[in-house]
Amino acid sequence: MKKVLYAASECFPFIKTGGLADVVGSLPKYMNKAEYDIRVMIPKYLAIPDSWKEKMIYKTQFYMDLSWRNQYVGILETEYEGIIFYFIDNEFYFTGHTPYGNIYEDIEKFAFFCKACLCALPVLDFKPDIIHCHDWQTGLIPVYLKDKFLENNFYRGIKTIMTIHNLKFQGVWDMKTVKDITGLSDYYFTPDKLEAYGDANYLKGGIVYADYVTTVSNSYSEEIKTPFYGEGLDGLMRARSNILTGIVNGIDYEEYNPEKDTLIYRNYSAGNFRREKIKNKRGLQEELGLAVINKKFMIGIVSRLTGQKGFDLIERVIEELCSEDTQLVVLGTGEQKYENLFRHYAWKYGDRVSANIYYSDEKAHKIYAACDAFLMPSLFEPCGLSQLIGLRYGTVPIVRETGGLRDTVESYNEFEGTGTGFSFSNYNAHEMLSIIRYAKDIYFNKKREWNKIIDRGMTRDFSWNNSARLYEVLYSRL
Ligand code: GLC
Repeated sequence: MKKVLYAASECFPFIKTGGLADVVGSLPKYMNKAEYDIRVMIPKYLAIPDSWKEKMIYKTQFYMDLSWRNQYVGILETEYEGIIFYFIDNEFYFTGHTPYGNIYEDIEKFAFFCKACLCALPVLDFKPDIIHCHDWQTGLIPVYLKDKFLENNFYRGIKTIMTIHNLKFQGVWDMKTVKDITGLSDYYFTPDKLEAYGDANYLKGGIVYADYVTTVSNSYSEEIKTPFYGEGLDGLMRARSNILTGIVNGIDYEEYNPEKDTLIYRNYSAGNFRREKIKNKRGLQEELGLAVINKKFMIGIVSRLTGQKGFDLIERVIEELCSEDTQLVVLGTGEQKYENLFRHYAWKYGDRVSANIYYSDEKAHKIYAACDAFLMPSLFEPCGLSQLIGLRYGTVPIVRETGGLRDTVESYNEFEGTGTGFSFSNYNAHEMLSIIRYAKDIYFNKKREWNKIIDRGMTRDFSWNNSARLYEVLYSRL
């Protein structure tokens, strides 16, 4: 039995700001239970709902040195769907309405978390063979492990994997402060280790010290070796390319299943979507106060409203996009300029645009079920999960050919009768618009073709079944 510890800053269903939480929350369930004991460790944030906190069992507590500070570490535990979750408790660090706040606070918060994860293991009598770290917040775990912990017999032999869900976020702060916070010696703050462009960089530390590095799609693992996608670390990515690989994310096929989903208006399947899916559209149109008309091309967007997701393209052509035969439904929060963009158009075209500037799981499911198409014109996209959910729900993805979008959506080819969605290659608003118009043409004028696109999409398998096996191969190789 191999033991693996997942360390991450968020995990569904306890706390979620993005796709990271979905991956950390679902992948462990799909690993082969006979061979792997997977446990997950995250911070016990104040923002975790009370209903979850009530289910946590107090395990133990101790004090831990963090440089010159001496801090409390509490450990709580809960079991959910067969997986053990540990929560690191410290009310000084893990306060606030969201997991993340000011970066200078997060820098100390996650140094604490990284060290606490390691210190907790002997106390819990859990010695993992592998610690699987996710994103910059856990980047110091491989560093700390190789620093002092390996001198202790308990930690000897533990391997680490660093998974990059988004290279844009690296955990960067000035070296002097980071030295003071982490207690790591000068030795670590050179360009071949934690230093990058004069600052200290947590993710870089993780990438340098991990035994293996993965990212969440094959294309993204190649893209980040180039300056455009490399976020300043493309040189490091090239240098580490012999231990860098891409494994595409899956989605939880139990959580997202149009046949059984209890949150949507009407269940449907690959067999009967032609008749039943439309009822979700009418239900949502009514709920959101849009014109209740079958023959509208309904486009969905469920996303963090950030520059990464390509909203600059949408802004550029939003008038043309919101034409009379179209409806646009947006769900999510983020940068104010994008929130206001959608609010404005919802005000201007009340019967065609619906701006839901908050997050709700229930609304998300309803949108996936109701829409005809799902738009993701991302500037970059490590994997993207919405297009996978879209495929599962017969909601045709329209995407830019980048990262995981490129790897999971096959572009419609009308001559060969292939493809599961629509795609365009350049980050250009009019290229996007023309592909949307093309999709609309198929939708309105070649409905049988459109439905075949859905047929093909719904029968693709983007559950974790494939990718969990790839992680197993990686774990067994280490
Ligand atoms: C980040 C990426 C997204 C990916 C997710 C889970 O949110 O931006 O592309 O799907 O992590 O790996």
